[in-house]
Amino acid sequence: MTTTHLELTGVDIEFPTPSGPFKALDNVNLKIKKGEYISLIGHSGCGKSTVLNIVAGLYQATKGGVLLDGKEVNEPGPERAVVFQNHSLLPWLTAYENVELAVNQVFKGKKSKAEMKAWIEHNLELVHMTHAMHKRPDEISGGMKQRVGIARALAMEPKVLLMDEPFGALDALTRAHLQDSLMEIQNELNNTVIMITHDVDEAVLLSDRIVMMTNGPEATVGEILEIDLPRPRNRIELADDPQYNHYRAAVLSFLYEKQRKPEEGGAAKPAKEKKLAQDVQDTPEIAAVSAEETTESADKVKAA
Ligand SMILES: Nc1ncnc2c1ncn2[C@@H]1O[C@H](COP(=O)(O)OP(=O)(O)OP(=O)(O)O)[C@@H](O)[C@H]1O
Ligand SMILES: [Mg+2]
Repeated sequence: MTTTHLELTGVDIEFPTPSGPFKALDNVNLKIKKGEYISLIGHSGCGKSTVLNIVAGLYQATKGGVLLDGKEVNEPGPERAVVFQNHSLLPWLTAYENVELAVNQVFKGKKSKAEMKAWIEHNLELVHMTHAMHKRPDEISGGMKQRVGIARALAMEPKVLLMDEPFGALDALTRAHLQDSLMEIQNELNNTVIMITHDVDEAVLLSDRIVMMTNGPEATVGEILEIDLPRPRNRIELADDPQYNHYRAAVLSFLYEKQRKPEEGGAAKPAKEKKLAQDVQDTPEIAAVSAEETTESADKVKAA
């Protein structure tokens, strides 16, 4: 539990652009332990997806690199499963068949047909999708599709689960349900997770540590906040917890005081930024990051 499992060391990346190389990341360093739940948070366009894509092996760092259990990562692999924001399911396959595809890829020749079936069903059960496992994506809701995407990733038994804004496209209530499911699953499986989010409450509720990134270009890790809240975590109880609200305020302070969004950000995505701006409005203690409670933010968490 205490040794480094995943390590990013001195990661730089430069993208070629028509106006010359664009250095998106500069000297990103991060050590993650087995079973840790890490959230990456930062303003739109700072480089969060780029970090995740480098860990996934989809992008190659220009300098530095990634080690997983001491082995260099330089291509995608099933030990690093990715869940994207827009549930990338194959539309002509049922939920079961979508998971089966990934399971075949990883376990062919290692599990019998009956074992494979049981394993697929088990993973769909973990995300509460047993009742709809023979439905196609166009027959189920967005939240259910995202559940299937998570089941598919979990079914590959990855060493690391990488999630790029997995609940970003969902309404608040569905998102809250999925967060709770994910916490339950995490309690059982103890996966190593890196999750990108724009939602401060989501980050505090789910994470062991929140990695806050500076604005780009040449973005890097700004601060790392350890979330020392006992598990299992209950969103209703935490809404009135001073420590929870202190963590929440610390993240908002980083984003809105220390890393103010540059006035004109080409890559800015208004909806996401609006969500963060709302969070700041809901957090009056942001100016003096103290352990004071905020009833407004508490109400917001309760309502989610
Ligand atoms: N393939 C690429 N070629 C050129 N530039 C890129 C490429 N991928 C990302 N970038 C640039 O790198 C920076 C970081 O992008 P990235 O997608 O990682 O940001 P992000 O933090 O995930 O943003 P968001 O929150 O909006 O998803 C941006 O300025 C982006 O334009
Ligand atoms: Mg992104």
